[in-house]
Amino acid sequence: MSEKIYDVSPEWASRAFIDDAKYQDMYARSVSDPNGFWGEQAQRIGWIKPFTKVENTSFAPGHISIKWFEDGVLNVAWNCIDRHLPDRAEQTAIIWEGDDPSDSRKISYRELHDEVCKFANILRSRNVQKGDRVTIYLPMIPEAAFAMLACARIGAIHSVVFAGFSPDSLAQRITDCQSKIVITADEGLRGGRKVPLKANVDAALKKCEGVDWVVVVKRTGADVFMDDVRDFWYAEAAEMVTTDCPCEPMHAEDPLFILYTSGSTGQPKGVLHTSGGYLVFAAMTHQYVFDYHDGDIYWCTADVGWVTGHSYILYGPLANGATTLMFEGVPNYPTNSRFWEVIDKHKVNIFYTAPTAIRALMQGGDEPVKKTSRKSLRLLGSVGEPINPEAWEWYHRVVGEDRCPIVDTWWQTETGGILITPLPGATKLKPGSATRPFFGVVPQILDADANVLEGECQGNLCLARSWPGQMRTVYGDHARFEQTYFSAYPGKYFTGDGCRRDADGYYWITGRVDDVINVSGHRMGTAEVESSLVAHAKVSEAAVVGYPHDIKGQGIYAYVTLMDGTEPTEELRKELVAWVRKDIGPIASPDLIQFAPSLPKTRSGKIMRRILRKIAEDEPSTLGDTSTLADPAVVEDLVEHRQNKR
Ligand code: WT7
Repeated sequence: MSEKIYDVSPEWASRAFIDDAKYQDMYARSVSDPNGFWGEQAQRIGWIKPFTKVENTSFAPGHISIKWFEDGVLNVAWNCIDRHLPDRAEQTAIIWEGDDPSDSRKISYRELHDEVCKFANILRSRNVQKGDRVTIYLPMIPEAAFAMLACARIGAIHSVVFAGFSPDSLAQRITDCQSKIVITADEGLRGGRKVPLKANVDAALKKCEGVDWVVVVKRTGADVFMDDVRDFWYAEAAEMVTTDCPCEPMHAEDPLFILYTSGSTGQPKGVLHTSGGYLVFAAMTHQYVFDYHDGDIYWCTADVGWVTGHSYILYGPLANGATTLMFEGVPNYPTNSRFWEVIDKHKVNIFYTAPTAIRALMQGGDEPVKKTSRKSLRLLGSVGEPINPEAWEWYHRVVGEDRCPIVDTWWQTETGGILITPLPGATKLKPGSATRPFFGVVPQILDADANVLEGECQGNLCLARSWPGQMRTVYGDHARFEQTYFSAYPGKYFTGDGCRRDADGYYWITGRVDDVINVSGHRMGTAEVESSLVAHAKVSEAAVVGYPHDIKGQGIYAYVTLMDGTEPTEELRKELVAWVRKDIGPIASPDLIQFAPSLPKTRSGKIMRRILRKIAEDEPSTLGDTSTLADPAVVEDLVEHRQNKR
């Protein structure tokens, strides 16, 4: 691992909100006096009724309870919009850049107010009330932001489902939270290709009940099926409502949104975030990590279907009165220069993307980057998976021309916001390390016997105490929340990540230690892919693991045992890939499938994944002890027929 160190430049130390001395002071206070610290930080947002209590949290077994600012009352949409109107009504809130480079739009805070009120009034006119769940299945168009903020305005709980998910995955998520209304578009547009969103919704709704309304936003103008009773066009409904919609007063602990994420079982979990603590944490991290100053143009390339889009396209930036860029397209359309052209077109100062995109663009060489100016860029960010030092160096040298610090931000859907990260005016950088904890965050590294390790060490990453952006529960299943995050190490939140701490106290995330793989920065539960494979009539058993992939970080490697008498053909291999793709979505497509006559199992019948992982990683010499296997000969066959990478 690279041990090159990049110092904070004197310009950065003086211009940034936080220099190193301030980081040390504030961090010390955040852990010695959390109530005082967070009580002050919470003043950065507006409260309808001020809170009197700050932290009320417990990680005690059987009593997991997380509440922040609980007697305060606020509205998240008011904080993201109305609060800015006196000073910034005409300032651009959202720059929308379409898939086609000739398509863009600027939305001022006043326009945002009007659009969100209209959308909120449409929802209210369909009897959506405080606490109701609203499923949003939209591409990256401004209406996605309007819809989310409209929910926040009236106190409805949004559940955004990434538009790359299949009808089945969508149906599963609608059913789990019992949404009565779904918001979608006729079609999405990405990299010049159309995505049949309305048709997907129609297919999903054949598999679930209880949806009374489908709101359809026109994006491409495609001719789509419209149910006379259930479906209606957004534009037509918007003509019938006013731009005036009072904000629902919400308690700090009232839910803001649900976001489904994969875990180690087949069923995705509904991660629940609430209003007050989440917004304080999203706004604060956005300001300090990206050193956001008034007037900066900020661009996070994530999709609103993931938590990064929630916290760092929408809620954090808008709570800070920022100008946030929303991009419909992909990094390589029409050409590999697209990101850098968008940066030049809109004079972007702060750019936040994922290692997988950086690696893919790095493969195209320096020229597509160098032909653009990028003079406006000041700060770069990375999120989603560990960034390998080579990609870090390229991002720094070629994209940032050695003048832009890189903030490598570690966090999770569950954490609501960034927890381990450099602060650009305070933290020396080491390529590949997420560096140091953010304020109020107390990371601990534990060994398998639950000993807390000190100093330089490697083990499993836990968080010893709560922070305001923490998820509150798994929607509808608090027992699962406790079981998933608080049972491995009682009294602590277990992240599921492995981690090393170096002699300088810097954290290096080594990747997931559970049955979750990280494909292009997206979390995929191996169990989900397995249950999809075994649902195929020709498959008898399946085991899925991750393996190192040049661009995606991890690829999906599936071992498949076929039904007796079934021929293992190339056609079947393709059929199984297409099957999973259709069943879950393109992000779950297996990269490699190995037909295995049988899988390595213990005598009690448990599949030995450790061994399958080693084979997929092409490290058969480190298989370890195979003597406990019911039939050790199985392993030799698997090693011999291992599929080639890439
Ligand atoms: C998992 C969370 C939170 C935004 C996107 C992913 C991995 C995330 C980093 C980073 C190393 C990272 C972890 C984590 N991860 N950021 N900077 N360095 N690993 O959200 O889908 O909830 O996945 O992504 O393994 O647990 P997510």
